[in-house]
Amino acid sequence: MKTTALYTGSFDPLTNGHLNIIRRAARLYDELTVGIIVNPQKKPYFTLEERREMISETLKEFDNVKVEHFEGLLADFVNSKGFNVVVRGLRGVGDFENEIHMEHMNARLFDKKVETVFLMTDPAFSFISSSMVKEVHSLGGSVEGLVPDNILKRMDEKR
Ligand code: COA
Repeated sequence: MKTTALYTGSFDPLTNGHLNIIRRAARLYDELTVGIIVNPQKKPYFTLEERREMISETLKEFDNVKVEHFEGLLADFVNSKGFNVVVRGLRGVGDFENEIHMEHMNARLFDKKVETVFLMTDPAFSFISSSMVKEVHSLGGSVEGLVPDNILKRMDEKR
């Protein structure tokens, strides 16, 4: 059976922590979709179009990874596309606390058996978040090595 996996997030912007999870998940599954969540309540720093473009550029080396976006429930997106696996990254116990509740809720909403698989974030990136990267960058600090080079370039251009 072909295993199709989904890895979701706001990716505003995508960081090297996310990229590390994507690289590892792409090795584990036949096909990986990176799903950008569109939350009409949130005003992202990068527009959806910008995020799609930047992420596609970062991920062009991967043959089995594609980029999509969705609005609404993650479970509805999974049900409509038929993914077998949902991949989540865990940076520490704080993430675990939230993720366990989300996993239980999502499991009720999936219309077939879908495994949520947790990968531990590389310790080199376990302290970062997209918000922290944006804050440090906007105040003039270096975020080199924390985001892919093409994304750093876009952040510099937008500043
Ligand atoms: N490396 C570095 N940073 C990471 C990371 C990693 N491996 N994994 C997560 N992060 C960061 C993200 O950058 C993000 O930072 P920010 O808060 O500063 O933007 C933060 O951790 C939270 O990430 P995540 O848990 O992926 O949140 P999200 O907002 O990006 O996406 C969804 C959350 C999409 C999974 C969730 O909101 C969802 O499923 N929404 C759909 C609605 C729904 O179904 N709700 C019911 C759920 S039960």
